[in-house]
Amino acid sequence: MFGTLPGEGMLSGTVVMSLTKMPALRIGNWEAEIPIVQGGMGVGISLSGLASAVANAGGIGVIATAGIGQFEPDRDTNLKEANKRALQKEIRKAKTKTSGIIGVNVMVALSDFDDLVQCAVDEGVNILFLGAGLPIGLPKTLPLDRLGELATKFVLIVSSARAAKIVFRSWQKRYNHVPDAVVVEGPLAGGHLGFRKDQIDNPDYALEKILPEVIAVVKPYEKQFNRNIPVIAAGGVYTGADIHRFMQLGAQGVQMGTRFVATYECDASMEFKKAYLNCKKEDIVIIDSPVGLPGRAIRDKFLERISSGVKETFKCPWKCLKSCDFKNVPYCIALALTNAKKGKLDEGFAFAGANAYRVDKIISVKELIETLVGEYVAVVMQRSLEAKVAVQNA
Ligand SMILES: Cc1cc2nc3c(=O)[nH]c(=O)nc-3n(C[C@H](O)[C@H](O)[C@H](O)COP(=O)(O)O)c2cc1C
Repeated sequence: MFGTLPGEGMLSGTVVMSLTKMPALRIGNWEAEIPIVQGGMGVGISLSGLASAVANAGGIGVIATAGIGQFEPDRDTNLKEANKRALQKEIRKAKTKTSGIIGVNVMVALSDFDDLVQCAVDEGVNILFLGAGLPIGLPKTLPLDRLGELATKFVLIVSSARAAKIVFRSWQKRYNHVPDAVVVEGPLAGGHLGFRKDQIDNPDYALEKILPEVIAVVKPYEKQFNRNIPVIAAGGVYTGADIHRFMQLGAQGVQMGTRFVATYECDASMEFKKAYLNCKKEDIVIIDSPVGLPGRAIRDKFLERISSGVKETFKCPWKCLKSCDFKNVPYCIALALTNAKKGKLDEGFAFAGANAYRVDKIISVKELIETLVGEYVAVVMQRSLEAKVAVQNA
């Protein structure tokens, strides 16, 4: 697929075979040929279109549930039902488009967390990614004494070893089961961040630092439960060389969001994608989200209006986030993100990772994955040749 690699002649056929592939990522019974998880991106950015394209390319495609019902006709009157119905529809649509691995991302901060988790399990989704809060308690409607028997596997998203420790301990005690994998999301990610503002640029909280810390928390549970619990690195992963670097640090896969926005298959409008194409490094800012967490987004007129003290008038059809103080917040984040997804960026804003300014073209998911694999393989070959030369010169 990638033609002849530089220096290939110096290596034996079997070595070349093992070097020209990324290692697969196995979560429970599900094995992705490409160890890349497409991060769930809420309010309509990652739905069945993007998720199925990623799954078809060998990665793990993820449908995000946050605000998924915003595009249903009854969103103003029955948002809770609209969310469930929309999720069911998107999972079924994805399944008609791919036989690859499909995940669903549910934010713990959502008021209907329990309903959405149950809906995803009922629809037989392969993997559930639980983040934006600590999923200490799972819905009581699940078979909590037999979680390991479910076809759906559970992946925890955390931003610290401490958070991983709390959830693993709690699940072990309550369910005699622990998550099937962990995503460690560092401070360069897009959307809501699991860090205080003062931690974001502090090297002690860099992904390179927290990834090994989380791996150390998970290790004893692997022994105890006699299974591999992969740790997946997220936040600022942009190239195949980045993927290689985090794999060298012990990650068994990566989760990427920003790069998948700039694909034809991403479910956002072209205007949303153009916000990525047109932004500069200084446009990517940290905002105070009404969710009560910092978030990373592209500065635009809407955000400038809000930061100048303007309070938008809006009706809250239903308190969709557990912690939203909807009577006092300056704007409705679900509405702002819905507008952005539809391309109405004067009335909203785009969440984006710290590397969004590097995006310079829209490509297909297949091309993106092939590029990442090619870059990864080039690093592996280079390292292998360097090692061989070092042995020959010794
Ligand atoms: C537009 C956008 C929306 C996002 N929405 C969610 C979400 O709903 N749930 C979640 O857990 N993470 C969300 N994220 C985080 C991504 O899933 C991903 O982990 C992160 O962006 C990875 O960093 P990267 O963008 O630098 O690759 C979002 C990110 C972006 C850019």
